[in-house]
Amino acid sequence: MQEDRVASSAYDRRKALDKEHSGTQHISRSPEETGEIGFRLGKRLKAGDIVCLFGDLGAGKTTLTKGIAKALGIDERDVMSASFTFITEYDTNPPFVHIDLYRIENGADLAELGLWSHIRGDSISVIEWAEKAEAELSSENIIRVSLKYKSRDMREVIIEGIHEKDRDNR
Ligand SMILES: Nc1ncnc2c1ncn2[C@@H]1O[C@H](COP(=O)(O)OP(=O)(O)O)[C@@H](O)[C@H]1O
Ligand SMILES: [Mg+2]
Repeated sequence: MQEDRVASSAYDRRKALDKEHSGTQHISRSPEETGEIGFRLGKRLKAGDIVCLFGDLGAGKTTLTKGIAKALGIDERDVMSASFTFITEYDTNPPFVHIDLYRIENGADLAELGLWSHIRGDSISVIEWAEKAEAELSSENIIRVSLKYKSRDMREVIIEGIHEKDRDNR
């Protein structure tokens, strides 16, 4: 089944992905490895892509985001937990937008917060705590990354929704 034929909502898309087992599982044994997973993902991203990061506090979302940013030419030291700023935009080409919904209440009106005006078709966006925006995420360009704490230094990283067929290897 072609996944893009069935994707009419984030939920349908997820169901289809579950069925297809199209996620890629990675085991990371250090923050550096998680950064490297982010870097490799970042190299495959295109303008319009929205990377949704799921996982608890300390799962490695910001660590992975640093790797993505590095792939786009941003100094990873400039990428911080966006918890206090909520949205940080970087002047790269395409622009990179780092969003962190940690402090946003569950069920908050994300439109009112201006979230959707920051997620644009000409940018690459990364959303930490995407759980909080899930109901409103229905784009075709969503890449889901689920991070799970396994042990002090070990994390499971599952990436869904990125496909070779529509990716050139930039
Ligand atoms: N394999 C790993 N991958 C990512 N982070 C790890 C790993 N092992 C240990 N850590 C630690 O876990 C923490 C992850 O923090 P962070 O990336 O800010 O998580 P989040 O943004 O999900 O809250 C960091 O302190 C990091 O050093
Ligand atoms: Mg974080």
